[in-house]
Amino acid sequence: MQPDKIKKLVIVTASVLVVALVAVIYFFNRHNNIPVLEIPKVAVTGNTTISETWAGFYPSQWASYLENYANTEKPSHYDTKPYMKPIYHGIGFFAEYNEPRAHTYTIEDIKAIDPARTKSGSACFTCKSTQVPELMEKYGAQYYLMSFDQIKDEVTEPIGCADCHDSETLDLRLSRPALIQALERQGRDVNQLTKQEMRSLVCAQCHVTYYFAPGTKELTFPWDKGVKADQIYAYYDEKGFTEYTHADAGSGLIKARHAEYETFMDSTHESAGVACADCHMPYVSTGTSKISSHVWQSPLNNIKQSCTNCHQNGEEWLTQRVGTIQSQTIHTQELAGNAVVEAINELKISREADNVDQAKLQEAMILHRKAQWYLDYVMVTNGYGFHNPTETLNNLSIAIDNAHKAVDAAKAARGTS
Ligand code: HEC
Ligand code: HEC
Ligand code: HEC
Ligand code: HEC
Repeated sequence: MQPDKIKKLVIVTASVLVVALVAVIYFFNRHNNIPVLEIPKVAVTGNTTISETWAGFYPSQWASYLENYANTEKPSHYDTKPYMKPIYHGIGFFAEYNEPRAHTYTIEDIKAIDPARTKSGSACFTCKSTQVPELMEKYGAQYYLMSFDQIKDEVTEPIGCADCHDSETLDLRLSRPALIQALERQGRDVNQLTKQEMRSLVCAQCHVTYYFAPGTKELTFPWDKGVKADQIYAYYDEKGFTEYTHADAGSGLIKARHAEYETFMDSTHESAGVACADCHMPYVSTGTSKISSHVWQSPLNNIKQSCTNCHQNGEEWLTQRVGTIQSQTIHTQELAGNAVVEAINELKISREADNVDQAKLQEAMILHRKAQWYLDYVMVTNGYGFHNPTETLNNLSIAIDNAHKAVDAAKAARGTS
């Protein structure tokens, strides 16, 4: 080959290589290293309880938020879990209990709720709207004493930006007094919370169990002894608190609510430093940069963004692991559910029988109370055990054990075995 040709070939090859290298770097970065959107943190002006006010300041997060509207399904729990209904005889849930859907539908859903479930009054709105902190300020202690119908027309805006962000600084903030008070009673300084803690605590404003304090009806988190099922149970027992009486069994019961935060605490993920937002608000690409997803949904809908940053075993493995955990939980929950229903049925028979040993009957009711608490705590907590598989199965085992003991005691009360 002539030196001229060699020179040309070298130049052409080198150019092609450079172009290819640039392209590889470009595509590699596009997929793996997109910068987080640098947003100047500006103070939002106007009516900040209306989320649309934030749209002009943070258009990418607003666009992400709007995607929540696509999440519309809210099937009834009773279609898939027939044992659930008899368990709730005596409380509003008996009339209706649906699975959750997107944050953007809270107002629509609460206003369409079965009237049997509105007895708790205005407190029902507390985790549904950005307008609540303002209403609490407006009405003071009276807020919790108002009826559902008295407050309902004043609440129009679903969960939104102001629930989690300070409109001046954009920092994550706690807007709900019940959480702040619960943390303070635990001796925590709410001004010293880490950013990673806040990435879970903003969710803990609502995704927790709670009760209404007798008298004031104030929304209260039962966390003074700790956030685990047994600690909360001990808290209620110490207070002698009963929320309702079971219509068939006659037992004085307490009601668990969506304890996602409590269940998550001390799990493998939480103890490894993972937060709710890591899985439920992963970074998503907006083209040239990435933002935190503001679509609150099942992480299984976008397992790649939600899990594969930390897990290298692939989407299929992750999906299978979640499936295994959830199907084992569902199976054990069904065993516990059927055992509690049996306890209820035996209690009903004994209450209607002649010559019943009242002390034994009382003992059976207390065992039923305990069994139902541990079952309910798992049953109403979203995620079917994924947030803390071992603790979930442990709680269900306590439910099964106490339900069986309740059956025995109820039968013994009427002299059969
Ligand atoms: C349920 C709580 C919650 C709601 C509601 C919420 N955000 Fe966020 N937002 C977060 C969390 C958590 C982060 C991550 C913050 C961090 O890690 O510092 C975040 C991050 C952001 C950021 C920083 C950039 C980024 O994407 O990480 C912006 C801007 C933002 N949100 C705007 C909004 C706007 C606008 C709305 C209303 C349309 C909104 N957020 C609603 C929880 C929320
Ligand atoms: C102000 C209260 C509030 C806050 C704060 C909040 N949530 Fe929710 N969340 C709700 C309510 C209420 C629903 C059920 C809405 C419905 O069904 O109408 C819900 C539903 C959900 C769902 C279910 C969606 C589905 O498809 O079933 C997920 C997931 C979720 N939230 C995650 C989070 C995460 C993660 C955070 C924190 C970053 C958070 N939420 C903060 C109140 C809240
Ligand atoms: C390690 C990842 C991870 C973390 C951290 C996490 N979750 Fe989840 N979450 C999941 C998975 C997986 C599911 C099951 C989704 C399904 O069944 O489709 C789920 C389900 C849910 C659901 C029900 C959603 C639905 O569509 O049924 C809610 C609500 C929820 N989580 C809230 C939270 C809250 C609040 C926190 C923090 C206290 C949290 N999660 C922490 C992975 C996580
Ligand atoms: C921020 C990092 C992070 C994210 C995001 C994350 N994980 Fe994990 N995960 C961990 C760590 C750390 C462990 C502890 C074991 C280890 O070190 O590998 C773990 C453990 C697990 C385990 C085994 C332990 C158990 O509790 O069963 C499963 C299953 C799992 N993760 C599934 C998921 C799924 C599914 C998602 C997405 C929805 C997810 N993880 C998201 C960090 C993460």
